[in-house]
Amino acid sequence: MIDEIQRLETDGVARIGAAATLDDLVAADRDVLGKKSALNGLKRGLGGLSEDERRTVGAALNAAQQALRAAVAAKRDELTASTRLAEAEAERLDLTEVRADRDAGHLALITQVIEELEDIFVGMGFIVAEGPEVEDDWHNFTALNFPRHHPARDLQDTFFVGLGGEREVVMRTHTSPVQMRLMESQEPPIYAVVPGRTYRNEATDATHLAVFHQIEALVIDRGITFGHLAGTIDRFIKVFMGPGYATRLRPAYFPFTEPSAEFDVQRPDGTWLELGGCGMVHPNVLRNGGIDPEAWSGFAFGFGLDRLATTRQGIPDLRELTSPDIRFLQQI
Ligand code: DAH
Repeated sequence: MIDEIQRLETDGVARIGAAATLDDLVAADRDVLGKKSALNGLKRGLGGLSEDERRTVGAALNAAQQALRAAVAAKRDELTASTRLAEAEAERLDLTEVRADRDAGHLALITQVIEELEDIFVGMGFIVAEGPEVEDDWHNFTALNFPRHHPARDLQDTFFVGLGGEREVVMRTHTSPVQMRLMESQEPPIYAVVPGRTYRNEATDATHLAVFHQIEALVIDRGITFGHLAGTIDRFIKVFMGPGYATRLRPAYFPFTEPSAEFDVQRPDGTWLELGGCGMVHPNVLRNGGIDPEAWSGFAFGFGLDRLATTRQGIPDLRELTSPDIRFLQQI
């Protein structure tokens, strides 16, 4: 009988262990421990045994029942935990949304152009520098050899901002003041480009903006010549615009360069686009920047980015650059 109880226990534990769901476990519990179970049948038969036998068999039956109940309890814990996990998995909210027609947008055309030009000039050994958009008179004009009442200042009508009394600042009219800031802050040799926003008091039309962009280049080293200037301009135009483009320099006047020139770009169809100004850095400017013009020489150039960007893109009106029209923006 003891053997029989052992067997029932072993089988019962196996049966309980095999339950895959809580419902299975309820059925197994009933079959193994319930009223109609074999174990219970043996218990009911205890009355027909001698007292000695009853004690031994009774103890074995109790032990078997306890072991089986413990097995049921353990299995119930296990199944409850895994059921909860499965429920939690099933109820998890996926908060991500994937839209097939998602539009990631892109950088503004001017920013694209600035980044491209920076790459080209960095490839030629230049660093990229920046300067303030609100300038003082010294950096924007005086240090660049525009004396106080010189008519050359009239070429760059701008916005002055009074700070009270004699003090006033100016929205920079060009990126050239950063030439001065570079000379003040570092020793030559200097090879730098400066992209940035510039401001002039302009009536806005298809070819003029009051807020526009320029890029400035400044090179100061020993033995720098006009040839270096012409070669650098021609090189970057061919890389930026394409091999079908050519450049030319025409004599011009800027207070901060001597000699000075304007440079034009020839499109493959033969027409010319006036792009910017350039020249050899004026000795007064070098001196204002604390650089000895007998030991060093340099060239500078500066040109508008807005017209360059619209020309390359075939956009007829500069004002489109600040247009919020999505139909336009999607094309560039
Ligand atoms: N700053 C001038 C302008 O805005 C352009 C310019 C001319 C820049 C000659 C230069 C330069 O660096 O050398 O019209």
